[in-house]
Amino acid sequence: MPKSDQGSRLIVALDFDDPEVAFKMARQLKPTGCRIKVGLELYLSGGSELVRRLVDDGFDVFLDLKFHDIPNTVARACAVAARLGVWMMNVHGLGGKKMMRAACDAMEALDRVPLLTAVTMLTSHAEEELSQLGLKDTGIQQHVGQLADLAKNSGLDGVVCSAHEASDLRERLGPEFLLVTPGIRPAGVPMNDQRRAVTPEEAVEFGADYLVVGRPVIQSVTPMSTVRDIQRAIGEY
Ligand code: C5P
Repeated sequence: MPKSDQGSRLIVALDFDDPEVAFKMARQLKPTGCRIKVGLELYLSGGSELVRRLVDDGFDVFLDLKFHDIPNTVARACAVAARLGVWMMNVHGLGGKKMMRAACDAMEALDRVPLLTAVTMLTSHAEEELSQLGLKDTGIQQHVGQLADLAKNSGLDGVVCSAHEASDLRERLGPEFLLVTPGIRPAGVPMNDQRRAVTPEEAVEFGADYLVVGRPVIQSVTPMSTVRDIQRAIGEY
């Protein structure tokens, strides 16, 4: 995590299909307690208006739309997203070096440049799916490493990855490259559909800079106290 970053490592995924429900939840959380992730579901229901409102309320927003298109299109989309005032956004690493480079270049000219991360392989892919995708000869682990190298060489700030990949990637990419890890479950909390979740403290121990947590917080009866429990577990509170 950058030394200059005084904020929380915790990013709460506001996975709602109704922007008003999302705002209600955001109002229960404090911008000093966590960051917020807006993914496809919430963005499609609330649009850029919702992102602006969250930014105006003081939240650092991670816009998780995983752009993957030709370089020009992605570059222009990134510039528009950056102007919304988001703190972090992402592209898909499989878009390749030219696309990722174009995304970085598009934002260089702006006053306030968000952190730009890349998704490597979706953690939902099982090993056997790689051959269906035509990615026959290498395992998931190697693919993740290669795409993370590509993201770094393209000038990106970090990658979204599984916490299980974090220690290898930390060693491979050095201390500055940001690792953002979903698939986190505090001890004793239901796994939902996460198959190999780790606890917040394990994720930090493995080298994660930022932890994405959704349902354990947003389905909690007392979301802010769950946020505080997670912060306590990672020594932030
Ligand atoms: O509710 P839960 O904590 O499982 O939410 C995790 C969040 O992280 C969701 O928004 C999900 O889309 C996202 N995510 C993930 N696994 C990935 C990439 C993103 O769970 N590999």
